Amino acid sequence: MAQGRERIEGARDVNLGSGFDDLIGSLAVMNHVLTTERLVLRPATLHDRARLTDHWNSEEVRRFLFDGAVLSDAEITKVIGDSTRDFAAAGYGLWLIRQKERPDVVGTAGLRPLEQLGLEVVYSLAPAVWGRGYATEAAGAVVEYALGPLGLPEVLAEVDEGNVTSIAVVERLGMTPFATVPGLLGPMVRYRRTARSG
Ligand SMILES: CC(C)(COP(=O)(O)OP(=O)(O)OC[C@H]1O[C@@H](n2cnc3c(N)ncnc32)[C@H](O)[C@@H]1OP(=O)(O)O)[C@@H](O)C(=O)NCCC(=O)NCCS
Repeated sequence: MAQGRERIEGARDVNLGSGFDDLIGSLAVMNHVLTTERLVLRPATLHDRARLTDHWNSEEVRRFLFDGAVLSDAEITKVIGDSTRDFAAAGYGLWLIRQKERPDVVGTAGLRPLEQLGLEVVYSLAPAVWGRGYATEAAGAVVEYALGPLGLPEVLAEVDEGNVTSIAVVERLGMTPFATVPGLLGPMVRYRRTARSG
């Protein structure tokens, strides 16, 4: 068990094994809010449209996340609407990430369908906070939540072969490659982590 485990009244603590514990410390879950050692992840709402537009449409963030495309207001509204519906119906969607001691949003992490294969984990960070391990910590919390409380048998990821920092994230999460598929920017590698391998 990692030291410094935070206790939140009424929260459900989740512990799936030493591998995840090493990555994110420990995870507390309450009302779809995920709390890790350094971060708080909360579901996105329609009030977040402007900050998501700024974040996702910045050149460095959208390069691999949306194949370089700029998302319209309508597309961002739809992403948030789908997330709100999925949280209500199935307990997953899009989370916004903030540091525990600061109010501003520094990124996103989420679960969304990957074709008919299952749910994939997605994540993005503002460039100002790259290189601190936040993506691994946030995505690790989402994977842990998915394989634990949500009860999924596996979580998937799909990463452009050229997205080296993202490949490093999924590898740190212990995900293993199982397929390569063509994408708009070139080959994309599909990864999985099963509940059994946790
Ligand atoms: C993909 C993305 C989230 C990766 O961000 P990142 O900052 O490299 O990843 P992490 O937050 O996990 O940080 C890892 C780095 O922090 C370092 N680090 C520093 N302190 C750390 C700590 N306490 N714990 C863990 N890692 C730490 C790690 O060593 C690593 O550095 P390295 O790459 O030099 O080895 C970011 O590049 C991004 O937002 N890209 C645009 C969106 C995108 O492409 N998303 C993925 C779509 S599949």
